Parts: sequence; C-alpha cells; structure tokens
Amino acid sequence: MWISATQFHRTQISLRFFTFLSTVVFFFFPGHLCEAAQARNAMVATAHPLATQAALKILKKGGNAADAAIAAQWVLNAVEPQSSGIGGGGFFLFYDAKTKRVYCLDGREIAPRDASADMFLDSKGQPYPFFPERITGGLPVGVPGTLRLLRTAYERFSTKRVAFEALFQPAIGIAEKGFSVSSRFSRMIDGQKERLRLFPESRRIFLDAAGQSLEPGFFLQQPDLAKTFRMIQERGVSVFYEGPIADAMVQAVRFAPFHPGRLTRQDLFYYTVKEREGVYGHYRGYDLLSMGPPSSGGTTLVEALNILSHYDVRAMGRGSYFMHIFSEAQKLAFQDRNQYLGDPDFAKIPLSYLLSEDLARSQAAKIQANSIVPVKTPMDPAPGAHTSHISIVDASGNMVAFTTTIEHIFGSAMVVPGYGFFLNNELTDFDPGPFPAKAVLPPNAPGPEKRPRSSMTPLFVFKEGKPFLVAGSPGGSTIIVTILNLLVNILDFSMNADAAVRAPKIMNRDGPTELETALFFQEKVRSALIARGHTVIKNAFYGNAQVIQIDGETGEFTGVSDSRGEGLAKGY
Ligand code: GLY
Repeated sequence: MWISATQFHRTQISLRFFTFLSTVVFFFFPGHLCEAAQARNAMVATAHPLATQAALKILKKGGNAADAAIAAQWVLNAVEPQSSGIGGGGFFLFYDAKTKRVYCLDGREIAPRDASADMFLDSKGQPYPFFPERITGGLPVGVPGTLRLLRTAYERFSTKRVAFEALFQPAIGIAEKGFSVSSRFSRMIDGQKERLRLFPESRRIFLDAAGQSLEPGFFLQQPDLAKTFRMIQERGVSVFYEGPIADAMVQAVRFAPFHPGRLTRQDLFYYTVKEREGVYGHYRGYDLLSMGPPSSGGTTLVEALNILSHYDVRAMGRGSYFMHIFSEAQKLAFQDRNQYLGDPDFAKIPLSYLLSEDLARSQAAKIQANSIVPVKTPMDPAPGAHTSHISIVDASGNMVAFTTTIEHIFGSAMVVPGYGFFLNNELTDFDPGPFPAKAVLPPNAPGPEKRPRSSMTPLFVFKEGKPFLVAGSPGGSTIIVTILNLLVNILDFSMNADAAVRAPKIMNRDGPTELETALFFQEKVRSALIARGHTVIKNAFYGNAQVIQIDGETGEFTGVSDSRGEGLAKGY
C-alpha cells in the first residue's frame, strides 16, 4: 500500500489545490507556458536568459557554437552559481559541421591523490548521511575541470574570431553591475541556507545580515567573481591551476570548518582534460551520440532504448501499460549502470555488452505484463535542481551540447574566500561504501585520481546523417531519465520538442516508480501501476532540459528551455 488514509485526505486537498494552481498559472502566466523559439540561422538554449543573450552576442560577433557556449558558461557561473562554474566540471560535445565529426571532451573533476575508498565513512565505518554531512565542506571537493575544459574546447574548436579572454566579458559585466535575484534562486538559497551558514564567505555573499536567503529582486553584485575572471583574462588559465587561486582553493579545502578535505597544489597542477569516445545508439531510425564513461548517461540511455525497441511503444500510447514497460526498462538499465559504470581509466567497463542487442533482448524478456522485476540496488538520493546544460547550433551548423555542474545545489557550499566561486562536491557521485574487506572494489568506489561516475547526458541525435536534436538537462541521476522521456515523446509519440519537454515524466532508477506531480495525481494511472506491483511515489521536480530541434527539410531550429526552470531559448 503506498498511502495511508490521512495521507490520502491530504492528497485530495493537494489535488484540488494543484488543479486550482494549474488553472491560475495557465490563465495568468501563459507566456511561461510557451517557451519554444523559432529561428533560421542559429539557436541557443540555456538555463538563464542572461547566458542565452551572452551566447547570441558572441555568435553575432563571429564566434561559433563553442565560443558562445564558453561565454554562456561564465555567465551561468554568475547568475546560476548554485549549479555550475569554474569550481566544477562537465562534458563538452562538439559537432563539426564541416567534417561531420563529433568530439567528446571530459572535464570531469578528479579525486585528490590522497583520496581513499573509505573517505566517506565515519569512525564506525558507516557512510556519512548524504545530507548535509557527506555533501558539505572540503572532503567531497574534486579537482575542478571546467576552466581547463573550456580552454581546451577553445583551442580545438573556436573560430578564434573572438579571443578566449573576451569570452569572460559578459560575465564580468554581470558580476560587477549585479543581477536581480529570481524567486527560484532565492528559494534555492533558502533550501541550502543551513549549509551556506557554515562558511563565512558563502554566508557573506549569499545570505542577508540575519543569515536568511536573499529576497527575490535583491540586486546581487559579485566583485570577487569579477576579479577572478579578470585575473584569468590577464594571467591565463594557469593562475587557477598553479597560481594564487590554486593556493586559495587548497587553503579553503584543507582548512574547511566542516569536513576538511585532501586537495593539494599538485592535484590542481596535474589536472588534465581527456578526449573520450562517445556512446552511439540507434532508435526508431535515428542515430544518437552521447557521453561515455565516466558518465553513465550514454550507456544507460542507450540500454533503456534498446530494451524499448522490443516493444511497439507508439501503439501502446501513453497509458498505464506503457508506463509499466517504460519504468521496467529504466529499472533494468539502471541496475546495469549501478553495477558496471565508473571511471574507464581505473575499471574495465563492459561497453559492448551494455550496448548489445543480446543484452537488450534478455532484459526485455525479464519484463512481465502484471508484475515487476525486483529492485537490485538502492535508489540514488533524491535529485535537486542542480547542474546546468547549454545547447547551441550556430550559423555554420556546428553544435554544442555541454552539461556542466558543481554537483549538489551550491556544491560543497564553500565559496573560495576572496574569489567568489563555489567549489564542487563532485566526489559524492562516488559510491560511499563500506566495501567488503579484501573484495575487488566496485568500479565507482572512491580512489586517488579517479573521476566519479556521472549521469550527465549531453546528446546529439541525427536523422539520415543530418542533425536532428541537441539536448541535455540537469538533475543528478534523473538527467538520464529526463533525456529518455524526451526522446520517447519525440521519436515514439511524435510530440514536438516543446510538448515533449513539458510532458510529466515517468522515472525508475532501480527503486520505486517516480511520477512527476501532474501524473502522480491521476488516480487511474496510480492504481493501474500499483495493480501491476509498482510502488509509486511523487517526484515534484526533475529536469531543466535545454533542447534544440532541427527541421531536416526547412533547416529551421526550434529551441526549448524547460518551463520547470527559468531559462531561455532564443535564436536569430
Ligand atoms: N553531478 C551530476 C552528475 O555528474 O551526474
């Protein structure tokens, strides 16, 4: 049974309130419900209007998709500091329209050389509780990769018509002049204020004098962040990996007032960006390319799609039988993800097995019409609105899908004193243990110089060799499911990108079946799933997809920034 009588009563009230709220939102904020943009030359979709505008400016100055994405990232660092920035890492996919090649750059954070498999265990050998202990302070901070990643992307892909240094300018302007705190940002600060209060610098910048969240409408200036960007402009990327900013990061981590960590100057100095093979998939006549390990995004997405290929999903419609099959396919793919995925430089990842038709066939055979496959590995912690994604197509047809993160909302919660940016807590993407003594460690156990397993799923889709879709989303392990829902909505149910992003999601990460609010409140859907054996829970928020769909015939772009967030898709 999923719900008690009292809970049921509360649910009925919530249901009425939800219906009322939807009506109010629909009638009074129709603009917010229509985020799709059309354009013929270029399109940008990011999680914040100021980042989208900065990217468009760079495109109009002669920069390409890579240049525009770099400028957008620095703006996001200023206006969405809870999600991404130079204190974090990411995966950068670039499609070169001339050569028709896709390049996948890995700028994932790395564990310090002093990291160990037991680093997240307390004195009794038990993992620190996830929130707030494990995710806060110096211990979960990995060596940041974003700055070196974007320097590499610039060297490899830029037109060089706009200097690397100039790409910081829009962000410097915003950090110096300030921007208006939105209600979403204010809510996010509020949700993390206990963590932010632990660190005087985070408290000074992001809380008011009484230690409360900044109010919506507050004009936030970040002179320290502007100074940091100016230092990088003047002295290059090395100022961050070898110079005074490196010193400040090491100091902040090693002398953190909560869970000091193990980062050293050497760790920063030796940080390297890696080029990886993408993960390729094929579904309903479309070709997909996403990020491979250390991300689990590509393999899990493709395995779930391969399982779904065994069903006539379109004929099912979006009813409860489809939801049952869809949830089970995800669960099976997540079971393999949780068992096999990790850093490919440290563990052998059975890629060809995971992507094989043989595996898909045997997984599909496990799915029964009226019962569920048992859960194998515990579900990941609930997602938040963390991480960010940038999708861009430029006037030459080059494309970028860049998912970027500092992990949890506000990462480690530590701003580097004097430099105005948050350090990530990416090492919490490792399995915390404990691991059985003398056993071979699982692929995603923490270890020196290892990259924690990610779920980021930056994606390109092609139809008969022509670009069709650029997409990505935040949301921790729900990223994979957000992208899977999007693809099935477009490729099976023929929805346009806008409708596909909006549709409430169905999710299973090897746990209960999670329904997004609007679906959860459909009593018939819930009871039909429960009758098939599902435990059904509500998940109010996941995803903030940034999507560009390309019409193969007209060449027109449709850009969509998920209305669950506050982003903007815009082109020209
Ligand atoms: N920290 C989000 C991810 O890498 O999946």
